[in-house]
Amino acid sequence: MPRAIRFMETVLRDGQQSQIATRMPIEDMLPILETMDQVGYEAMEVWGGATFDSCLRFLNEDPWERLRTIRAHVKNTKLQMLLRGQNLLGYHNYADDVVASFVKKSIENGIDVLRIFDALNDTRNLVTSIRAAKEAGGSVQATICYTTSDVHTVRYFASLAVEMERAGADSLCIKDMAGVLLPSVAYQLVTEIKNATRLPVQIHTHATAGIAQMTYLKAVEAGADIIDTCISPFAEGTSQPSTESMAMALQDLGYRVDLDMDKLEAVAEHFTPIQKRFLDEGVLNPKVLQVEPKALLYKVPGGMLSNLINQLKELGVEDRYAEVLAEVPRVRADLGYPPLVTPLSQMVGTQALMNVLSGERYKVVPSEIKDYVRGMYGRPPVTISRKMRAAIIGEEEVVTCRPADLLEPELPKLREEISCYAHSEEDVLSYALFPEQARDFLGRREDPFYDVPVQEVNVSIAV
Ligand code: CO
Repeated sequence: MPRAIRFMETVLRDGQQSQIATRMPIEDMLPILETMDQVGYEAMEVWGGATFDSCLRFLNEDPWERLRTIRAHVKNTKLQMLLRGQNLLGYHNYADDVVASFVKKSIENGIDVLRIFDALNDTRNLVTSIRAAKEAGGSVQATICYTTSDVHTVRYFASLAVEMERAGADSLCIKDMAGVLLPSVAYQLVTEIKNATRLPVQIHTHATAGIAQMTYLKAVEAGADIIDTCISPFAEGTSQPSTESMAMALQDLGYRVDLDMDKLEAVAEHFTPIQKRFLDEGVLNPKVLQVEPKALLYKVPGGMLSNLINQLKELGVEDRYAEVLAEVPRVRADLGYPPLVTPLSQMVGTQALMNVLSGERYKVVPSEIKDYVRGMYGRPPVTISRKMRAAIIGEEEVVTCRPADLLEPELPKLREEISCYAHSEEDVLSYALFPEQARDFLGRREDPFYDVPVQEVNVSIAV
């Protein structure tokens, strides 16, 4: 009996996030949801920080309503979301009461599987959301943020996988947000993790550097169970490899692929004119479809590179780009090799920029970096040297407990603050996560004279 390889379809979350900055409204999804439900996917990824934010900020959609609508049309296939552990969908730690309530409500409104990660791979930042998900009957996919450094060895990641299995994970994900996971490393990683745990392993990468299909193939050969792919009109480039292509190639190699190819074609036909519309409107920048092998040299996510270029342009110092780029790995080493994923990618990039432009390293330090060195984000992969710590926070103390242990419950205050517009716990949670955007969204909904309009669709692409 050939081994089955299962697929998670990303077009409704990461696919459209990577190519059109998450600007797809529910109307573009509705007509095809029931067909998608019949394809035979392992899961459909539908929710995450950017989808939530974009619904409130640009699309005037209630993100909870979107989830319930998708659930109403997708009755058989599992719905999956991406969650930043104690940061939920935001950029800082929330108190445990907010985390527990958000996770419970996500499951009540239709989520089956929660892919939970921490930017520092500090598993203490995962425990509250894992516990809440299990209590509410959800499936937990604990997630390893893949990155490269002297300490991020295959052995390091395998022991992290064991820790996650012990913490209650139902499956594991290797999340290669930067698209820098090489095929041979994928093979070793999956082999070691499969040896060390009994959990299903899912692989997530981006096609940015042009090697993603090879990475998936080697991961599958090593025993990976599920791969993340995107239907062809929104596939490749900064998105995932195309679902149809991977399905056909793996089938040809002798693996069992339980996807209905006719239904897949119908899904592709549905999204083709939608892709063209975003292209014509300028929301889809053809640049994101080009292969970018430099990502493998710099080991820096594509979105971080374009952010840096934009920052330098604004300051009129584009000629310092090479210097700033060279400073990024040095800052990362100084700070204990954090993976370059939100929010740390932005923080490390900004510090590198300041080190170069101020003419003296760490002369200017943003408050987020100071908080990070104080331990407020969790434990760095490598302890920060005493000298570096003194240069950034002087004699101040470093927090060694789980950072959220320092937070008092937040929900009562949040409920009070937004009581004028909120009708449900979901409304309160929207406000907890994106205070300004949610207040404006709820204000427009409740008050015909509320005078903050929906933001114009912004055509600049942030991947
Ligand atoms: Co991704």
